[in-house]
Amino acid sequence: MKTLHLVFHPNIETSRVNKAWAAKAKAAGLHVRDMYQLYPDFKIDIAEEQKFLVNYDRIVMQFPFYWYNCPPLMKKWLDDVLTFGFAYGPDNGLKLKDKELLLCVSVGGAQAAYMPGAYNGFSVTELLRPFQQTAFLCRMKYLSPFWLHGSVRANDDEIAAAGDRMVAHIQDPSLSDVWNLQTRIFRELGVIK
Ligand SMILES: Cc1cc2nc3c(=O)[nH]c(=O)nc-3n(C[C@H](O)[C@H](O)[C@H](O)COP(=O)(O)O)c2cc1C
Repeated sequence: MKTLHLVFHPNIETSRVNKAWAAKAKAAGLHVRDMYQLYPDFKIDIAEEQKFLVNYDRIVMQFPFYWYNCPPLMKKWLDDVLTFGFAYGPDNGLKLKDKELLLCVSVGGAQAAYMPGAYNGFSVTELLRPFQQTAFLCRMKYLSPFWLHGSVRANDDEIAAAGDRMVAHIQDPSLSDVWNLQTRIFRELGVIK
């Protein structure tokens, strides 16, 4: 299982959470790429990015939650790199089929705020649906995401402990089994084909 770890943070130097988590991922031997450092001008090398994706099995995307979404370079990366014929389209063009997508998100707000009737209205699971559907369209396995609520108020120890949990989550091989089992159940229930 080869894991590629893409970090999207517009200002990693001033980051508390994502900087610490990226360091944890690096220390664990994951192939970490700081995407804003690689593409400060937003001119993404599409061929290079697609080559990376083809060569890895588990694709991790780590980012801070900004307006219930990802930072702008990550959105541009999705727009530019997931092209027709590569990520979706005719069967022989589906180069991401059966690869895994795993999101790791630092969420500023507390869990209590992310529910119906509360300040943020929806759960993080619901707000991440566009990414889940993107994975589905590309025939990727959308693994159970990792996130930390209350990251704006978390202290250094809490951030470090969450970083350890994130690395353990990323390296957990049973995540694939969970996805396969869920898929089988949904198929048998007729929810998906
Ligand atoms: C432009 C911007 C938008 C944000 N939007 C949200 C949001 O929609 N929900 C939320 O919980 N936190 C939001 N936050 C807080 C960030 O998620 C939080 O600061 C970040 O996860 C902390 O990680 P860092 O230390 O790596 O920057 C936002 C922060 C910024 C700067």
